[in-house]
Amino acid sequence: MGNSKTGGLAGVSAGSTSVCTVGNGHDLLYRGYNVKDLARLSTFEEVSFLLIYGELPNEQELKEYKQKLIEARPLDENLKQVLKCIPKDSNPMDLMRTACSALGCIEPEKEDFSDQDDILIKLMGKFSSILLYWYHYHHSNKEISTTSDEDTIAGYFLEKLHNKKADEFHIKSMQISLILYAEHEFNASTFAARIAASTLSDIYSAITTGIGVLRGPLHGGANEAAMKLISNYSNPQEAKNGILEKLKNKDKIMGFGHRVYVDNDPRSPIIKECSSSLAKNDEQKNIFAISEAIEKTIWDEKKIFPNLDFYSASSYNFMGIPTNFFTPLFIISRTSGWGAHIIEQRADNKLIRPSAEYTGLSERKYIDLEKRK
Ligand code: SDX
Repeated sequence: MGNSKTGGLAGVSAGSTSVCTVGNGHDLLYRGYNVKDLARLSTFEEVSFLLIYGELPNEQELKEYKQKLIEARPLDENLKQVLKCIPKDSNPMDLMRTACSALGCIEPEKEDFSDQDDILIKLMGKFSSILLYWYHYHHSNKEISTTSDEDTIAGYFLEKLHNKKADEFHIKSMQISLILYAEHEFNASTFAARIAASTLSDIYSAITTGIGVLRGPLHGGANEAAMKLISNYSNPQEAKNGILEKLKNKDKIMGFGHRVYVDNDPRSPIIKECSSSLAKNDEQKNIFAISEAIEKTIWDEKKIFPNLDFYSASSYNFMGIPTNFFTPLFIISRTSGWGAHIIEQRADNKLIRPSAEYTGLSERKYIDLEKRK
């Protein structure tokens, strides 16, 4: 695709950021905090606040922030009409992209961007309602209520998905996965969102751009593709044989490898532990064993490691989440990271417009229509 020399910008520093550091001999840090500590000790609400505002919230700030996220849950009638019109068998990522864009028509950002933080909070609070309103409306002909006693995004999402109060351990695991997914430096969707912001476009356009880029299986869509891969096998031996075959055919194994990390993704052991603890019944334990067999085979053969998406897949599956909701969950979380980068880009903006090496023909004479073969 004309990028063999630039190699997908691998290893190229495309700007600076104080939001997050990935690789380069550092641990994964969000605003200076180690993601391992955040996953163990914090909540997604605290971490998304940290990303957007630069510091962890104090008690009062957290209370007010959570209240704003809760107040964002109800859906405007116009938005409900849009959701009702989107076909039931659409890809939920297309639904999320369209809903984000529609919100930009219904409640546009102010020209001076003074409401940018509020819009990010609104999107994070509303995305679960959007997805689950659309899902239940089309699949069980019910319009969900957006009221709930759950005061976290994790608890609210699980409750509205399953129509019952969520298990505490599932909420905790969901919190961890949302924290791990929240931010990752100049990944493709964040970089794309920054490019959109650099044109001084509005925040909905920048987030919609991020969603469109996240959708692909080489990026966020890998968690869904990983689940489909795991589901192909009925036991660990079959998984091993199947993966050996795929490696022989030079197939890409979704949920493995990374552009920046060389021998491990620091998020992977954390989500793997969640997956292991969530596997309770025999079927789930078998899925976990199949996942481990896939991991071991790829490591033994190619020294390629699982990225965050691989064990997120089984973790979400064990919480009863439909596979095509995995990447929309990534959106809910990554909106905080995208938001932090959009704010950072706007604070010291310069249009992002690199140059390209021309590999086409030298100038030639125009051919009139009737003379063309
Ligand atoms: C995310 O950038 C981020 O930070 C993203 C992310 C975030 O939080 O934002 O971490 C989230 O997007 C995680 C990645 C999800 N994608 C996948 O799991 C898809 C499968 N992975 C690969 O396609 C691949 O590893 C990429 C796309 C993630 C990275 O690809 P690169 O850097 O372009 O590397 P490459 O494809 O050129 O691979 C280099 C070598 C090749 O072998 P050789 O030709 O040199 O012999 O490694 C092999 C590849 O074939 N390889 C794989 C592989 N990943 C790399 N072989 C089989 N299966 C794989 N998954």
